[in-house]
Amino acid sequence: MNSTDPIVTDPIVYAHPDRNLAMELVRATEAAAIRAVPFIGRGDKYAADKAAVDAMRAFLGTVNFDGLIVIGEGEKDEAPMLFNGERVGTGRGPACDIAVDPIDGTSLTAAGRQNAISVIAVSDRGTMLDASSVFYMDKIVTGAAGRGVVSLDQSIGENIRELSKAIGKPVGDMTIAVLDRPRHAGLIDAIRSAGAGTRLMLDGDVAGGINAARYETRIDMCVGIGGSPEGITTACALKALGGYMQGRLAPKDDAERARGVAAGLDIDKLLEIDDMVSGDNTFFVATGVTDGGLVDGVRRKGPMIRTESIVLRSRSGTARRVVAEHLAEKWL
Ligand code: FBP
Repeated sequence: MNSTDPIVTDPIVYAHPDRNLAMELVRATEAAAIRAVPFIGRGDKYAADKAAVDAMRAFLGTVNFDGLIVIGEGEKDEAPMLFNGERVGTGRGPACDIAVDPIDGTSLTAAGRQNAISVIAVSDRGTMLDASSVFYMDKIVTGAAGRGVVSLDQSIGENIRELSKAIGKPVGDMTIAVLDRPRHAGLIDAIRSAGAGTRLMLDGDVAGGINAARYETRIDMCVGIGGSPEGITTACALKALGGYMQGRLAPKDDAERARGVAAGLDIDKLLEIDDMVSGDNTFFVATGVTDGGLVDGVRRKGPMIRTESIVLRSRSGTARRVVAEHLAEKWL
């Protein structure tokens, strides 16, 4: 790179992440997924996560951007890699906010279960909400038809009935994705009492949210309390998919609420997608670690390793599937 390189000298190219960035980012999620493979089903979620983090970090370091991790693997002292506030990339190129989840579904990976993915979301600098001081967020995610129809301020029964009318699908045919947690026992009962079915997820509500927003899946809505970082990451994807989402922070206790307030968060605010990530220049990439409804997991095919990823870009509203074959001997 020299001073005549357009990525350095052109103020438009320099200021905003551009389309080519998506392909750079997918290299990092592919690498994280491939490096997690030896740990699938081995019972050690920390080792799986560390392998994915190391690979993602190494690849992100080669990308021409000035990346600031807004949503990372926790605070610096708890996670030496990809911590909130860490700078990644070459420092040359557009200034971006980044959300990373080297594995969404570390327990799934360690157990050898389906639906673990590796995820990165990127937006222009200063546009991503840093909600890291409050661990959980209540969320509702639907396709575009949910806008002006569903709300976290309505009961789940009302949301199901209203969405049913909006999409022209009988309530009895609707499927609602929820994380399978004791805290959701009442929510699950209410969904079933309303007449809809549940898709209970062991983990991984980023994929659950994306599947609710995509038009060709069986999931009509994804609801319940999951991680706040995963909520912001999902919002980046939804900008490209054209789906609808609301969130509300859900502090576990008064101390966490106070930490959120001290960090400048409006705890009780009903967050629309634009509150979670503003602007219209988001990228979202996810590569399958284990097989799932969103993408296939990493597969060994003879001398090749096959990965499948989705690549979403909000400015163009494009969703691409990227299937890559990597020569296995290069990954020894
Ligand atoms: P990790 O893989 O990072 O552990 O996250 C998995 C996950 O299921 C997320 O998808 C979800 O948002 C969150 O955990 C829910 O948290 P909890 O397991 O505490 O209910």
